[in-house]
Amino acid sequence: MERVLIIGSLGQIGSELVIALRKKYGAENVFATDIKNPGNKLRKSGPFQILDVLDFKNLLHFIVRHHITQIYNLAAVLSGNAEKMPLQAWDINMKALMNSLEAARQSEAKKLFWPSSIAVFGPTTPRHNTPQLTVMEPNTVYGISKLAGERWGEYYNKRYGIDFRSVRYPGLISYKTEPGGGTTDYAVEIFFEAVKNKSYECFLSEDTALPMMFMEDAIQNTIRLMEVEGDKLSLRSSYNMAGISFTPKELAESIQKRIPEFRITYNPDFRQVIAESWPASIDDSVAQRDWGLNVNYDLEKMVDVMLKEVSKKLKG
Ligand code: NAD
Ligand code: SER
Repeated sequence: MERVLIIGSLGQIGSELVIALRKKYGAENVFATDIKNPGNKLRKSGPFQILDVLDFKNLLHFIVRHHITQIYNLAAVLSGNAEKMPLQAWDINMKALMNSLEAARQSEAKKLFWPSSIAVFGPTTPRHNTPQLTVMEPNTVYGISKLAGERWGEYYNKRYGIDFRSVRYPGLISYKTEPGGGTTDYAVEIFFEAVKNKSYECFLSEDTALPMMFMEDAIQNTIRLMEVEGDKLSLRSSYNMAGISFTPKELAESIQKRIPEFRITYNPDFRQVIAESWPASIDDSVAQRDWGLNVNYDLEKMVDVMLKEVSKKLKG
């Protein structure tokens, strides 16, 4: 029987992953943890405990005490916030990963999911249809920590047999939990502002294409990767994940088809430089081949669901 630990479970991804994993493995077998307190909905859905991934002793103790078999480690400082505190972000992101790798090595919880990001690529990477294996010279602290993390994950797999699995998520779009300070956050904010105020000032320029994915696709594919037999995986670093690529202008036009009075203005800030260093589109054929990566939401379907759900949420 699987016993699952989710670290950083209250964030944009964790809050939805916990619910999906509880449906799959039974609520009592999925342990949600974070450094902050959960809302009522998550608390009522199954076990929750405060747990700081930077505290190695407690982390290992928790894993042993609850007979954990697999770990999802989602704790990190995202790209925008990391640029505001580079050394602190490096310390947190690397220590969070190294503690979970070491805890896996020293316990029975040998299967570990840790997300990487499109931020592992940099300005010298081919920007269009970015291949799985290519030039990787990230120039953000977040991207450097993700690239180092991928290397460490593969190292622990080869050296210690840890069943390390990872994807390079594109920007994730969801309505349940706010994004945590990344460069792709505009693609969530825009929906809330469109419904509330019929206008949005975007912090990226109109023609900045980035790869994105609707959260439901991200969750389904994460679980698919974790469930596939290990010998299908030709990579133990991290798999490219493409999703859908669009610019802020294209997203705004799609919203205007449903809310004609919606207006967007552009006022690029420090995140513009970060976005320009990332791919505009990604080639994820290796993930499709190895473990069946499969995306259901295109731009129009995603916009339909986002506007419907954000409207419901704002009405309370
Ligand atoms: P988030 O910021 O929304 O959530 C992170 C959670 O980790 C928060 O609930 C936070 O309280 C918790 N946390 C922070 N420090 C902690 C600590 N010391 N111990 C335990 N918990 C701690 O982030 P997210 O968007 O859910 O992203 C999760 C992971 O996925 C991160 O590694 C991120 O880099 C990666 N990722 C996210 C995206 C995206 O678009 N959301 C894209 C690519 C990669
Ligand atoms: N959405 C994330 C960010 O913008 C990508 O890793 O930081």
